[in-house]
This record gives sequence, C-alpha cells and structure tokens, in this order.
Amino acid sequence: MIYPSDIIEEIRSGNDIVSVISEYITLKQKGSNYFGLCPFHNEHTPSFSVSADKQLYHCFGCGESGNVFGFVMAMENLDFPESVKFLARRAGISLPEPQYSREIAQQAHLKERLYALHKDAGRFFYSCLSTPDGQTAVSYMDKRQIDPRIRKKFGLGYAPKGRGSLYAHLKKKGYSDREITASGLCFPAKNGGGFIDKFYNRLMFPIFDLRMNLCGFGGRSLDGKEPKYLNSPETPIFSKSRILYGLNFAKAERKDELILVEGYMDMISLYQAGFRNTAATLGTAFNTEHTKVLKRITSKIVLLYDSDEAGTKAALRAIPILTKEGFSVKAVQVPDGKDPDEFKKQHGSAEFAKLLVSADNHISFQIEILKRKYNLENPEHKMLFLKEAADLIANLESSMEAEIYVNEAAKATGVSPESFFAEVKKIKAEKDKKARQDLRKKQIRNYNSTTPAEYKAQSKGVLKAAGELLCMCAADKKIYEIVSRYLEPSDFPNEALAELADIIYTKKSQNENIFPGELLNSFTEPELQRQAAAVFANEPAFDSHEQKEKALTEEIKQLKSLSLKRKLRSVDSIEALQEINSALKALETLSIDLQNS
Ligand code: GTP
Ligand code: MN
Repeated sequence: MIYPSDIIEEIRSGNDIVSVISEYITLKQKGSNYFGLCPFHNEHTPSFSVSADKQLYHCFGCGESGNVFGFVMAMENLDFPESVKFLARRAGISLPEPQYSREIAQQAHLKERLYALHKDAGRFFYSCLSTPDGQTAVSYMDKRQIDPRIRKKFGLGYAPKGRGSLYAHLKKKGYSDREITASGLCFPAKNGGGFIDKFYNRLMFPIFDLRMNLCGFGGRSLDGKEPKYLNSPETPIFSKSRILYGLNFAKAERKDELILVEGYMDMISLYQAGFRNTAATLGTAFNTEHTKVLKRITSKIVLLYDSDEAGTKAALRAIPILTKEGFSVKAVQVPDGKDPDEFKKQHGSAEFAKLLVSADNHISFQIEILKRKYNLENPEHKMLFLKEAADLIANLESSMEAEIYVNEAAKATGVSPESFFAEVKKIKAEKDKKARQDLRKKQIRNYNSTTPAEYKAQSKGVLKAAGELLCMCAADKKIYEIVSRYLEPSDFPNEALAELADIIYTKKSQNENIFPGELLNSFTEPELQRQAAAVFANEPAFDSHEQKEKALTEEIKQLKSLSLKRKLRSVDSIEALQEINSALKALETLSIDLQNS
C-alpha cells in the first residue's frame, strides 16, 4: 500500500458515497438506498443502487460494485493511488508523501520523466515547423487541407532531417541518456558514436493517452521513404495495442457513439469536418485490449474502414471482438475504394454525414460483404453464400432480429425465407449446444484458476454460495465460528473471495466490527474490488431458522467438496488420496445446527 491505511480510511469516510456519486448521476432515495441510471452501462430503468449504510454501490444490471474509491477509479479512469489523491482533494485532506517501495518509486519516477520528455519533444517538433526544412511539413499539411486550428489542437509537428537534433534538444533539457533511450525516440548508434533520432524528416503526430499525457508519436514520411507511417515503440508509457489515436479528443465530446477509423489522417479529417467522436487504431489490428479502453467511453461503435481488401478484412476481424464484449456495432464502407479522408474531401461533410447515417448493423454489413464475395447467379456459389449467411445470422440471440436478416439474404438469392430460416434455426441449435458444452468445460477448467478474467465464467451457484456465506459471517460472529470451522479462506472459489474471507475471519476473530465500505479499501484492483463488493450487495434473507441452517449446510458442503475435489486432482500419495476421500465422505453427513454448535 502506498498510503497508510488509516489515512485511506479517513479519506474514504470523508467522502460520503451518496454525495460523490450524486455529482455524476441523479439519485433517488428509496428507504436507506438510492437508485439511479447506471453510468457503466446503457439502461432506461434504474438498476444502479447506492447504499448509504454500507457506503457501497452496486448495479444489478451489469454487476459493477465497489466503494467510493472503486467508483472514482471507474468513473475518472484512475488507478487506486490516483483515486486516493482525487478524493483527498475533494475532502480537503492533505496527503503525506506516499510510502513507495524503492522499485515502484523508481518506476513512477521514470514514467513522470518520460511524460515530461515527450511533452518537450512535442514542443520541439512543433517549433521545427518554423525552420526552413519544416516548410516541407507545412506545405504537406496545406496539401492535405488540414485547418491551422486543427494543426495546433493536435500539436502536429516536424521531425528534422538531422538525426541528432531531438537528442541534442533533450540533452539540453536535462534528460539522461537512460531516460532518452527509454522513451524510444532516440537510440544509441551501433558503433558507439552517440545517439540517433528515430524520427527524421517526418510529419509528427503526438499521441495522447486518456489523461491527456503525451505518450508517443506517429510520424508520416514526407519524402516517400518507407515505412509510410512510423510509430513510437512500446515503452513504459506507450502501448499500441491499448492506445487509440484521438480518443482523448473523442472522449471529451461525451457522445454515446464512437467512429472507429484506420488512420491518423482519417481521424483528423473527420474531426475537422465536425465528426469529433472519432478515434483511430495505430496501424495495429483491433484487439481485446482496445475494447477495455473503449468500454469506459461508449458501448456503440461505428466501424468506418477503407473499402480495400485490407480494410474489409480488418473490419470483419474487429466485429466479433467488439460484439463479444457487448458493444453494439455498425459498419460502413467508403465507396469507390477510397478512404474516409479522401471521400470527405471529394464529396464534402454533408455527403459524409449521409454515409455515416447509412451505416448498417454489423450483420447486414457482413451479408453485404458476402454478396460481393460470391456470384449469386451461380447455384453453387448461392449455396455457399447461404451457408455463410446462415452461420452469421445464427449468432443472433433474438429470432425476431434474425428474421430481418433471413429475409435480406433470402431475397438476394431467391430462396424462400421459410426454408432458409429453418436452416438458420438448425445451425443455431447446434451452436447453442456447443456453447453449453464449452461453458461446462470451461467451468471445470477454471476451477483451478483464480484470475479475475476467468471469474465470470465460473459457475454462478458456487459464487452465490460463497458470497452468501461471507456476507453472513461478516454480520454474525456465531456464523463466522461455524463456517470457519469447515472452510479455510483458500476453500473459497477465487482470489477476491479468498482474500475477503481472510479479512473477515481476521476481523471476526479479533471481535472487530465489519463495515463493508471500509473493508473494501484492501481491494485496490478494480476487478477484485468489484467481486468483493458484490458480496455485500446481495445479502441473503431467510424466512425461517430452518431455512438458514439448510442454506448454511448446503453452501458449506458445496464449497468444501469442490475445494476437496480440486485438491484431489493434484494428490501425489495414496495417503493424501485417502484423506481427501474420507473428508468428502464425512461431508455428506454434515448438518449445521445453529442452536447446538
Ligand atoms: P495517408 O496516405 O497519409 O492518407 O495515410 P492513410 O491513413 O490513408 O494510410 P493507410 O490507409 O495506408 O494506413 C492506415 C494506417 O495504417 C495509418 O494511419 C498508419 O497508422 C498505419 N500504417 C500505414 N502504413 C504503415 C506503415 O508502413 N507502417 C506502420 N507501422 N503503420 C502504417
Ligand atoms: Mn489516406
């Protein structure tokens, strides 16, 4: 922990969760809880609840949960220490110097230096636009019709021809060779002769992260030299697979839809034309890391990729990645093999807006691409087309939605929609069956693992049992005494719950009161905090004493036997095997009696 825990707790209790969250969304009181529209997913009826007593929030729709730190981390895109700073400022509490370990302190220091270095490099490139050599970049921007205001806003610059000028500038600014090397903007010459700039004679695009730190550059060749675009390498502050160009500007627009394009120039050009909710990948394929960043900003994506083969392929690859993560996806292609930038220049913003509005749901888009792939006059092609289209449509959950596309595809081929729909249903049934089998297999496999990503795939029943037990333990010393007799923290099914059990056990054994909001201070990883907080959001209620005993018995049995079976898989001696087997046997007759334990 970077700050002492009593300070963290002081900051937490100085920031009432209801008043913090009310600064972002409207909450309505219902009893001791407050409800509002969840800021983490799209909804029309409020399922986001805030408990004033527990100082927790929980969304019954999407499952997001946490205490006030968790909320600020999610809402403001901060990590834990940053959320502490943020809320300390809000409550007017002054923070002591953080107690970093030496290694972390050095890393944090290097990052700070790299941000500062990039800022200086950005200013340097900008200033080089006014040098005589820089005129190539200026006239290039003229040719590409980039508005002077936009040039400035995006901080475009020029990397000079001399391959040591940035290095010299950074040295003059006081950066060490180690820092300059770590930035990836210069590298040591092979034959020991000083340092060489990575970018030279290029138009420079500064790349910002979501906190508006300049963290990398893209550079476009001005003299036809390959590669056309060059990016910063991976550094402690820059990763191509996570950062999207222009997303910092798009985020500020607070639109609920984001246009995703392939190139720097497309992004800038759309922004200039008023489509400011646009971002571009940095010459890498769209991947799951990107979706994590996007999730905090929007749930609706419009893919606007080039209509050449590469662009089509890239769009088709991005669609399943996005839909799997729950985004609603539309896609559109620019006609005549142009890219968005060229199209907009040729036809103007109004035509461009029309093009965007015409963006189809991703299924229609994919069917359109299939139509182009096959010659629908040819019976054999027709069959192949229908097979691929059926496969696509079978991915839809709603059969009403499926029907729309069934009609579309049937019309294109002249087959009857009814017989085609029957085919789709058959494929869907097979897919559903396979999905169920995969899920089961995955659940079994995941049983050995405790990573947050796999947590979701675990069986809901087990998680519910574990959560209820921990919730009851936290509230009732007697139940803690019984449960802890049978279950060790490591018997709980994942990292978050095992850690939570450990904390609750420790507190209960020392007769300390448990206060959920405070207890969550120990969970500084957002995903772990979400899982731990969800426990307190679902407090179990029982109609009778007997029902409670029965639930306790069944839940303890369930968790213990799974944990024992998990151990069974890695036993290495007959004795151990026998021991586990007799423990499993003993479990069968377990019956909790609250009066006489
Ligand atoms: P302009 O010719 O400037 O209009 O670029 P464009 O956006 O039309 O480029 P293109 O469609 O060729 O490429 C789209 C994106 O892919 C670019 O913005 C770059 O991010 C990336 N890219 C293109 N060429 C290269 C290359 O040679 N190397 C790398 N690393 N990325 C490239
Ligand atoms: Mn282009």
